[in-house]
Amino acid sequence: MPKKLRPIRWKNKTLYLLEQRLLPLKETWVRCESVEKVARAIEDMSVRGAPAIGITAAYGVAVAAVRSKVKSPRDFKVEMERAIARLRKTRPTAVNLFWALDRMKKKVGQLAGADVAKQKFWLEKEALLIHREDEAVCAQLGKHGAKLLSGCRNVLTHCNTGALATGGDGTALAAITEAAKKNKKLHVWVDETRPYLQGARLTAYEVDHAGIDYHLITDNMSADLMKRKKVDAIIVGADRIVANGDTANKIGTYALAVLAKAHGIPFYVSAPTSTLDLSKKTGKEIVIEQRNPREVTHPQGIAIAKEGTPVYNPSFDVTPGKLIRAIVLETGICRFPYTRSLKAALGRKNKNLVYG
Ligand code: MRU
Repeated sequence: MPKKLRPIRWKNKTLYLLEQRLLPLKETWVRCESVEKVARAIEDMSVRGAPAIGITAAYGVAVAAVRSKVKSPRDFKVEMERAIARLRKTRPTAVNLFWALDRMKKKVGQLAGADVAKQKFWLEKEALLIHREDEAVCAQLGKHGAKLLSGCRNVLTHCNTGALATGGDGTALAAITEAAKKNKKLHVWVDETRPYLQGARLTAYEVDHAGIDYHLITDNMSADLMKRKKVDAIIVGADRIVANGDTANKIGTYALAVLAKAHGIPFYVSAPTSTLDLSKKTGKEIVIEQRNPREVTHPQGIAIAKEGTPVYNPSFDVTPGKLIRAIVLETGICRFPYTRSLKAALGRKNKNLVYG
């Protein structure tokens, strides 16, 4: 059994993050002992993946709390609110970040006026709880998602949705790993995931670590594979799922969903309920992060385009709910129409049911 990858660690009032920008070539850790360092680690993508950035942000508040020098509860509350405000500005699309920060903010509110030492203790505990809960959620996602993949030989995935992107074994990748335990012949097509190469650098590293049969492909190879009937299902993660099932995920996801529809291949999304944003009706309301042009012109720091080349670099796209065959949540499997099934799933947390 390979050792579990755990990229987020909390030790002696300090957050340690496995530096994902250098993987798989180097394993180094980023030591964060200030909220600013945590915020930069999220912005610079030393840590990435929706659930992972939520957990990291929660620890960012915990770092600010346990290292605070202020004595009065009122000053402490101001400091915590400032830390939360800074972390909210890091990345706009993955709702897990805001979900985790709202939870920390609620805790700050509940503790207001209490002794500072007591507040530190409970804020640290809340961050640890958010982390531990995600680990349990991933296990459920793996179990539910594996059922959808049970008859598949070849599964295609995009971006990175494993342990490196979460607090446990992953979302979509947990389903693949679980399915592979029962079906030793399961084979994975790993999309390279341009421009940031999460697939080539991180997913290939994870499936290799898990001992699953796989091939790395560039993003433009998937259509041909589907035409040749070499893809039985596609499963991806999500950064924000809104009320009608429209799903923001890594750029390139929408193209895969359209291709899946054209070839009659099931397209699945797997995510924790902390990725749901039912306050938004459709995907049009989702803010899509635009990232540095250099991620396109200088992959891994190597120039591939002329200096000053104009670049368009959205980090995510939105897949319409109607193209998604099922959305796997820790509470069960949701089917179209999502306006009904997602609401039901959220209302019945942690019950092993199929909705729709
Ligand atoms: O820009 P990233 O690497 O943070 O984007 C990650 C993704 O889009 C993942 O597919 C998504 O967060 C699901 S992670 C379990």
